[in-house]
Amino acid sequence: MKVLHVSAELYPLVKVGGLADVMGALPQALKALGVDVRILMPGFPGVMNGIRIEGEAGQISGLPGVGAARLLHGRTPADIPIYVLDIPTFYNRPGGPYEESGDSHLKFAALSCAAAQLGLHGDRAHWKPTIVHCHDWQSGLAPAYLALSGLPRPATVVNIHNLAYQGIYPSTFLKELQLPPSAFHLEGVEFMGNINFLKAGLTYADRIVTVSPTYAQEIQRPEWGWYLEGLLTRRAKELVGILNGADYEVWSPARSAHLECHYDSERLSGKKICKNLLQRELGLDENPGTPLFTVISRLAPQKGLDMVLENAEYLVSLGAQLAILGTGEPMLEKGFQRVAKAHPNQVAVRVGFDEGLAHRFLAGADALLMPSRQEPCGLTQLYALRFGTLPVVRRTGGLADTVVDASPENLANGTATGFVFGPDSAWVLGETLGRACELYRQNPRTWTEVQRRAMKQDFSWKASAGHYLDLYQGLLH
Ligand code: ADP
Ligand code: GLC
Repeated sequence: MKVLHVSAELYPLVKVGGLADVMGALPQALKALGVDVRILMPGFPGVMNGIRIEGEAGQISGLPGVGAARLLHGRTPADIPIYVLDIPTFYNRPGGPYEESGDSHLKFAALSCAAAQLGLHGDRAHWKPTIVHCHDWQSGLAPAYLALSGLPRPATVVNIHNLAYQGIYPSTFLKELQLPPSAFHLEGVEFMGNINFLKAGLTYADRIVTVSPTYAQEIQRPEWGWYLEGLLTRRAKELVGILNGADYEVWSPARSAHLECHYDSERLSGKKICKNLLQRELGLDENPGTPLFTVISRLAPQKGLDMVLENAEYLVSLGAQLAILGTGEPMLEKGFQRVAKAHPNQVAVRVGFDEGLAHRFLAGADALLMPSRQEPCGLTQLYALRFGTLPVVRRTGGLADTVVDASPENLANGTATGFVFGPDSAWVLGETLGRACELYRQNPRTWTEVQRRAMKQDFSWKASAGHYLDLYQGLLH
């Protein structure tokens, strides 16, 4: 079985969020199960500089926007074979992979088209995928190009990491995107008079995967369907939710390359040292008994962090500490900075994206706040569990599937791993924060028990990769 994964992110070379982590780990886990897996990525600087390039895999012609381009092949740092679409005018630019400069539709149509051509014709050495597996809207046109080619084609899978991002462009782009007018209708690539890359993928792919079972249900309802719930409901039989995994080689307090001091569930004393080091690094009061809450996140509306901002003063009044690492909405950045300025011993903010700091925040904090309004899967709460940093999450998507609330009942039956609240309300989050502070202070022994249980949860990729393998096998039969 030959599977080509197509993505715009790949840890550790190009990372905006969890998609990178998935791409850094899932192909390895599939390889361990015997799948002949390869990756296709745009030639972003992080990729060109971070992989071992071994040569040219062929020329691809007829690409939207550029005509012909070289396809390189090489190996990722994890030794997975990778194809790189080398179009410097599109990809060799400063800034992140999704920096908008007016031609994103062409950048990602070219990626999709290259995937389709590899799928139809294979590379120079005759490697040809039996399955093309596309991640998010950036490669959403690949299943459409393949299906519309009318040629014998590989099977296709589209993976929704976040339905909120769809890649929507004016219908006037139809021709330059090389889509036939006959595909511009409700059951094709058309979406409210525009072209929708993700919808194209969801329409033409043989199977649709999303990243948690609960999210697979949520996106079939108007609240979180982003106007695609009708299509997704119609395709419910071909839609499955497979929970992401965590790469414990990278995200483990016993092994992390970014920590001065390591620990595990049997030796939690190291976590106390990590907490003290973090408090010192952030200029917070170096008090071991103060509950330290952290946020490590894109500051996007989806993440519900306005509810954390609303509760920041309340946390301060509870005598707790708050450490924020994130970048995104200026209103939130400024809001958190204002609170930090008023309470420098209790609140600290680091604006930016810093992989090492993310590990130190996870290791040093007592609890992670992730009150997302919507969370397809979420990886940070999985990392927090392994770091013994109890997640405080809203009951949605993958958060609902991975964290068990420390209710009296769940504490008594020995299943609690964090704090889960339901309503999308700052008030209810506040109540949950109060509950967490109380358990931390009044019942430290129970807190430690929950911590140990959280650290022992197994969300490794092995099980998830097994589900992907089942999906591939079903598809080929
Ligand atoms: P999403 O993909 O929606 O952003 P996930 O929880 O799936 O959410 O993945 C987020 C990933 O991005 C994690 O690896 C997390 O550590 C990382 N991350 C988010 N914000 C930052 C930041 N400011 N600095 C470093 N890492 C971050
Ligand atoms: C998206 C989602 C996140 C998920 C990640 C990886 O960015 O927002 O919930 O964990 O993709 O699948």
